[in-house]
Amino acid sequence: MKLVNRHKPLVLFNVRKLKYSDLLSIFITPTLFIAFMILHYIQSLVTFNEFLIGISIGILLGFVLHIEVKQKESWSKQEAITFTFLGTGLLLTMYALQVISLDLPNIFYLTPIAAFSILVKHFMTERFALMTSVVTSIYGSFIFMTTDFNMYQLFVYLLLSQWFAVFMFQSIKDRKTLLKTATSLISVHLILVTIFELEPWNTWMAMTPEFMLSLVFSMVSVLLAVILTLGILPLIEAAFNMLTESKLLTLSNPNHPLLRKMLVEAPGTYHHSVMVANLSESACESIGANGLLARVAAYYHDIGKALKPHMFIENQSGNNPHDSLPPEESARIILQHPNDSARLLKEYGLPKEIIEIAQEHHGTTLLKFFYHKARERQPNVDEDNFRYDGPIPQSKEAAIINICDSVEAAVRSKQHPTNEEIHKIVRTIIYDRLLDGQFNDCHLTIDEILTIENDICDMLNGIFHQRIDYPKDKNLQSTLGGH
Ligand SMILES: [Fe+2]
Ligand SMILES: [Fe+2]
Repeated sequence: MKLVNRHKPLVLFNVRKLKYSDLLSIFITPTLFIAFMILHYIQSLVTFNEFLIGISIGILLGFVLHIEVKQKESWSKQEAITFTFLGTGLLLTMYALQVISLDLPNIFYLTPIAAFSILVKHFMTERFALMTSVVTSIYGSFIFMTTDFNMYQLFVYLLLSQWFAVFMFQSIKDRKTLLKTATSLISVHLILVTIFELEPWNTWMAMTPEFMLSLVFSMVSVLLAVILTLGILPLIEAAFNMLTESKLLTLSNPNHPLLRKMLVEAPGTYHHSVMVANLSESACESIGANGLLARVAAYYHDIGKALKPHMFIENQSGNNPHDSLPPEESARIILQHPNDSARLLKEYGLPKEIIEIAQEHHGTTLLKFFYHKARERQPNVDEDNFRYDGPIPQSKEAAIINICDSVEAAVRSKQHPTNEEIHKIVRTIIYDRLLDGQFNDCHLTIDEILTIENDICDMLNGIFHQRIDYPKDKNLQSTLGGH
């Protein structure tokens, strides 16, 4: 007989089974009590009008933020946690400063609010950082209202401080730029403080200690913001195993065991990967995509070939094992390599962005050579058996590697391609992929595709002209040691 677990639940009620009306009846009294307490507290600080204006702005901004979050293609769990962490941290900091502000009313200038906007911009988007800065400025102006300052003055100061930070901080990674922009932001803060404190002219003339203290506080707030940004940034990146520039640079080191394995076991593939890396980095940068990610992902995209290097043309010298294999078997081996690459990269703990690019680098394209070979033997052969598993490229970087990968292989087969031939190869590959639906998910625009096409052609023309020109120029040849 099947035993039925009849243990009573330890909690008094199961929240999931409750209806909205039950929830309302349970929580209405404590909620009302808390609301009245808050209202009572606010009443002592603001007029009813100010309170209503504050509430309406809050609700309006809440809706705007809601729309912003919904519009985003994906609001990842990681972004939501980061945003909650940053927002809570900022509110707690502002409350803490407000509590100790009794003796120093201008202590609110010390709020490192710029750090919040810079980090939101870094982890989400610039637009979202600008939007949230309005909300946090409203919070801040309510929190610091007990100080001697006017609520609107507080709002404007906090908002401008954040907006300048968002516009000025372009790169957090580059310490030199960070220092330069921090200096500019300090100047902006000093100007803002002077404007706000200038109201009574005699304060300015007398250079009161309060005024000087405000200036010092605003300067310190920028320095605190920079320190907090530099401190919190690696923590969040490490907590979510995010792909950082330094991590990418480490992975681009040729001493990485996987790259060494490829160099030793599949030298042809290694050379091909380096070429694809150069082409795709340049193409990515031409449209503002992540060039470094493309470079590193290209180094590793064909690592799966290292398991059966002699099965791939770039590692063959004369003897081709596919000559003695049926086309179905050859296709099965070749179609497997993106999966092998992804599996190997996962085993070695590479970031998921690089694994995804390796998996997507052929999309669901058709292995034409073996498909036509099989059709010659049997006309009604199933095309799906000769297509890669995919998925199709999901990012701009993956799509660019997809293009450069085929372009490099096609151009390599030519001895001395002319500019026109190179252009024809690049254009045919891109349009073939486009019509095959391979770029349906990568968000590339037609304008970007044209830019990529031109960039790849320029790069290849440069490479091939150099190759042709070297032997003609005897002086140059001798300085290069004959290579
Ligand atoms: Fe490949
Ligand atoms: Fe490749």
